Amino acid sequence: MKEKIEKIKSEALVEISSAESFDVAEELRIKYLGRKSEFTNILKGLKDLEGDERKTVGQLANIAKAEIESAFAQKEKELKEKSFDFAAEKIDVTMPAKKMKRGHLHPLTKIQNELEDIFTSMGFEVADGPEVETEFYNFDALNIPKDHPARDKWDTFWLKSEAQSVERGAQKERILLRTHTSPVQIRFMQSHTPPFRIIAPGKCFRNEATDATHEHSFYQFEALMVGDDVNVGNFKYVAQQFFSRFFKKEITVRLRPSYFPFTEPSFEFDISCTVCGGKGCSSCKNTGWLEVGGAGMVNQAVFEAAGYPRGKYQGFAWGFGLERLLMMRHKINDIRLFNSGDIRFTKQF
Ligand code: DAH
Repeated sequence: MKEKIEKIKSEALVEISSAESFDVAEELRIKYLGRKSEFTNILKGLKDLEGDERKTVGQLANIAKAEIESAFAQKEKELKEKSFDFAAEKIDVTMPAKKMKRGHLHPLTKIQNELEDIFTSMGFEVADGPEVETEFYNFDALNIPKDHPARDKWDTFWLKSEAQSVERGAQKERILLRTHTSPVQIRFMQSHTPPFRIIAPGKCFRNEATDATHEHSFYQFEALMVGDDVNVGNFKYVAQQFFSRFFKKEITVRLRPSYFPFTEPSFEFDISCTVCGGKGCSSCKNTGWLEVGGAGMVNQAVFEAAGYPRGKYQGFAWGFGLERLLMMRHKINDIRLFNSGDIRFTKQF
């Protein structure tokens, strides 16, 4: 019996080691360890053997079986390694990685951050005000009385319901979507005493038809500097510094007389063309200048509305559209692109 087991074992080990495929190995497994195999018969026959012999033969058979099984396991591992297709599994480490889509800030948020950085480095504070404003802050306090024709300039979205009005003294005040960032001037002055310098970037709304240069929702940027003797020269210097840093080239500022109810005197201000530097080109329609926004010395009536004594302080204020600034810098020809939600546009910045 012992010899028989040894013989089966050595035959099996030889055959297993020469098997070349999984199929052959499987056939061998049936042959040597299957239900009808000689080996299984021996194990089945153990019960007919006598005490001691049963024990030794049983042990021997189990050891042999374990050896055959481990030969199969070894073979299987070997066959697996052989069939592994290295060419197909090869990784090309020089292949460019797939581009991941990442979120990004909107170009208007970026420009706002940029402007805030430049102005805070010049000692300005950033101030804030609500987008839903009262008629007082948006108009009256800025010296634009109810029946004044200048109000027509700011096409307004009025909030209609009775609930959407606030008490001001004995009167109910109408509420609106702010048409400019200038109301922040009043709000800030009510709670601060000069000298100070602030900027107030923010969203504004106008009830008007949209086209390539007009939007119903847009961003403005307000600057206000007030003290005992702040003058037009200070404004020109701050503006020149700001634009030169923003456009990363030497920019000069020119003032033209204009009219705004909240400033006296008022100007429109232009900057030297950012493309040709003032020589004249198609961007500046050969004038050498680009129009940027409005500015002026704060009207004493505005100081008074904010609670300052008339004649005590002097200051300049200015305001312009953020979109226009970006349009100038990147040669964008339609303001509506900013609100279009088209990431093919926004991701370029
Ligand atoms: N608020 C003005 C507008 O929306 C812009 C402006 C002009 C702001 C002159 C100012 C200023 O502070 O001084 O058209």
